[in-house]
Amino acid sequence: MASDTLTVTDNRTGNSFELEINDGTVRAMDFRQMKASDDDFGLMTYDPAYTNTAACRSGVTYLDGEGGVLRYGGYPIEQLAEHSTFPEVAYLLYHGELPSASALESWNAELKSAAIVDPSIKAIISSFNRDAHPMGMLQAVVAALGTLHPESKEFTPEGELRDSIALIAKTATVGAWAYRHNTGQELLDPDPDLSYAANLLYMMFGDKDVDPRLEKALDVLLILHADHEQNCSTTAMRGVGSSDADAFASASSAIGALYGPLHGGANEAVLGVLNRIGTKDKVEGFVEKVKNREELLMGFGHRVYKNYDPRATIIKAAADDVFEVTGVNPLLEVAKALEATALEDDFFVSRKLYPNVDFYSGLIYEALGIPTEMFTVMFAVGRMPGWAAQWREMRNDKEQKIARPRQVYVGPDERDYAGVDAR
Ligand code: CMC
Repeated sequence: MASDTLTVTDNRTGNSFELEINDGTVRAMDFRQMKASDDDFGLMTYDPAYTNTAACRSGVTYLDGEGGVLRYGGYPIEQLAEHSTFPEVAYLLYHGELPSASALESWNAELKSAAIVDPSIKAIISSFNRDAHPMGMLQAVVAALGTLHPESKEFTPEGELRDSIALIAKTATVGAWAYRHNTGQELLDPDPDLSYAANLLYMMFGDKDVDPRLEKALDVLLILHADHEQNCSTTAMRGVGSSDADAFASASSAIGALYGPLHGGANEAVLGVLNRIGTKDKVEGFVEKVKNREELLMGFGHRVYKNYDPRATIIKAAADDVFEVTGVNPLLEVAKALEATALEDDFFVSRKLYPNVDFYSGLIYEALGIPTEMFTVMFAVGRMPGWAAQWREMRNDKEQKIARPRQVYVGPDERDYAGVDAR
């Protein structure tokens, strides 16, 4: 039987090394023994943007990008979207198992009580410019929450759970407050009688009587965003958390990473693209621009998915339910025509570029009355359980240390000082 090892010959020296293969990986540190001379510190691996580096072992989310498969704790995303709720999925991500009925009841009660945010935070929100981007406010305020919870600097299993619940619950309140501030309205406290999704809509729009189909659609969107293994923002959460920064500081950094248009900000950018295209007859012209590298087709492509993003399939179906209540958004026709044109074009086919989660989500948010600037906030609210679960997993993984990649130095050699010499 073939052994699970890799034999590497260093042609600089002729030495051979046998490296262990575990779970389809070799250890980067095993290359350090390969030295060209005695004073050489050994080979490193070079992987800008971590395109082929597993930085952790994780049991939270399984993603098969070729097959278009996504599972949380082993459960297919399709089943969770159909049967579960966002708080239950949050429990699953954090604890690794679905809760019993009584465990879910206490989890929901804890989330509801943690959704109350200290009134001093209202003053911080009010100090932002009226047109401040809500993601900037969310990032700042989540960091500020840490100042109200100095106990979060002492890490215990109970403390990690407490801070995770606080983050999952309070992000909805703070996100809604950012919207209320933008629109010059009173900041509303959460109502414990409402579900997580209904409460989020209530704190934004002040209406407790939401159509259950819209409440369900938002809940499904939050489920679909809840985790996505080692994406850019989760890597930020883990990386910052690895320095023993508290959960709030780490989550604030993750929100910053999500803000970018290549990541969570893509949902906002997609609406910009659809609005600019405007009508179906302009789709082909836009696609030509993408092929000429004048534009990116936002909401398309993914580092890991080389197949249809399963979340996009679920969102497309949810959009139909929402439009039954709200009436069809004319941009849906543009989006569908854009998708169809791209998927028939060799530029996209040969690069395996398919719609991702952000392609259709904005259309649903818009139908729910949520303004474009708030789309990425909704993503952040949905992703918080994943960030919390991954943060806790990182903290309890004995192999993890402070995240600290290496570099290949390409700057000048040593040289003598040649500045102004102001002394
Ligand atoms: N439009 C046009 N061309 C694209 C796109 C796109 N959206 N995405 C990738 N490509 C091209 C890219 O130019 C490259 O072509 P070539 O090899 O000829 O230079 C090829 O496809 C491979 O792309 P890449 O940039 O090497 O892929 P990546 O893994 O580094 O980037 C991505 C992944 C998601 C950043 C990228 O696909 C992208 O910018 N998409 C648009 C933004 C977007 O929708 N982001 C949301 C991602 S999903 C949810 C989330 O994470 O928040």
